[in-house]
Amino acid sequence: MKLRLALFCALLVAPAVFAQTPTQVRVNGTRIHSHLAALSQFGRNPQGGVSRVAYTPADVQGREYAIQLMKDAGLDVHLDAAGNIVGSRPGSDPSLKPLLIGSHIDSVPEGGNYDGDVGSLSSIEVAQTLKERNITLRHPLQVIIWQNEEGVTIGSQAVGSGADEKLLSMISPSGKTVREGTRLIGGNPDQIASARRQQGSIAGYFELHIEQGGTLERDKIDIGVVEGIVGILHSDVTIEGFANHAGTTPMDQRHDALLSAARFIDRVNQIVTGVPGRQVGTVGWIKVQPGAYNVIPGKVTLGLELRDLDEKKFLSLFDQVRVAATEIGQRNQTRFSFTEPVVNHPALTDKGFQKLVDDTAKSLGFSTKLMPSGAGHDAQELAPIGPIGMIFIPSIGGISHAPKEFSRPQDIENGANVLLQTVLAFDKTMP
Ligand code: GLV
Ligand code: MN
Ligand code: MN
Repeated sequence: MKLRLALFCALLVAPAVFAQTPTQVRVNGTRIHSHLAALSQFGRNPQGGVSRVAYTPADVQGREYAIQLMKDAGLDVHLDAAGNIVGSRPGSDPSLKPLLIGSHIDSVPEGGNYDGDVGSLSSIEVAQTLKERNITLRHPLQVIIWQNEEGVTIGSQAVGSGADEKLLSMISPSGKTVREGTRLIGGNPDQIASARRQQGSIAGYFELHIEQGGTLERDKIDIGVVEGIVGILHSDVTIEGFANHAGTTPMDQRHDALLSAARFIDRVNQIVTGVPGRQVGTVGWIKVQPGAYNVIPGKVTLGLELRDLDEKKFLSLFDQVRVAATEIGQRNQTRFSFTEPVVNHPALTDKGFQKLVDDTAKSLGFSTKLMPSGAGHDAQELAPIGPIGMIFIPSIGGISHAPKEFSRPQDIENGANVLLQTVLAFDKTMP
């Protein structure tokens, strides 16, 4: 009788885990690995990574593959109006808000096989494990594959702060506008406002991701507990000069747009490194017109990116870059103009979530480190609507956004187990 009473009380205290003791439940690492290998076939590039840029056929095929895995994991799958793939698993307490986990499966051009894919497939694996172990959480669980993270964080922005006309008409790396792309993948751009969720409408969001830098590997740490995610500023810069004959125009009579661009790129580097801190700045693409040996470049467009955890800091750097551009332009009679910057705001993770991830990882025997994220993530877009947490695993050689991106199978399995146990611990203890 006493034993029955104790059992009954234990069920009341831990209703989420009546089928298993949570710490005994583990993901199937071999299965994650085989799903990663299968996903890497969609958009495979000759260097062994993927070019699965959002809104391309490879992206569409990858999404179909992920949808099938989500259905196999017992999730009820639908697309929201933004084209995010949402897989739901009901909870036992209808008064609780949903707990979200997920990541993205689109890549940069000539990207790797781990950025986004690890978190997406591990989140599906969490659902699959819950299904196989007959575990019903108290919270509804939603596994979400966000659309077009690399273009940047389009689907999660639509959910976290809403997509406006400016976002919908942005040209994505595929060459399609976000509006066209969203329609192509099955979303409804005309109704995209309905994808937005209200502040306080989610219990929280956890994302597992590769570090994309070399800190964890260098320090031999298993799990990174993310304290915050950098903000990102993008602006397209146009430099107008005058295209003229490269043989007959004397050196002192040129309006060489590419020469201004070269000086500008160097100045960006000087400005960004001229103050202490972890801020970074990059010119990541450039187009030269008309582009011939024997024509002085008349027009250049290039992409400027600035990042930091402190938004004020990168906005002030942007101001300095614009002042420098005007000076450079005057020196050889070219004219700089900047598009209105597109800003992804920095976000801090929730302190309680940091502790939950840290305690969970340690209870599984892993070493941990609190660290910032220099890469952008969908998680930062969800911060306006609820608490967020992120789990990092090591990236070998700190290489990412490149075909040589690699994370060891054991590290991926460790990260997925931390995600699973974090979900179970959250469900047990949080409202
Ligand atoms: C997203 O992956 C970014 O950091 O650019
Ligand atoms: Mn990325
Ligand atoms: Mn990513």
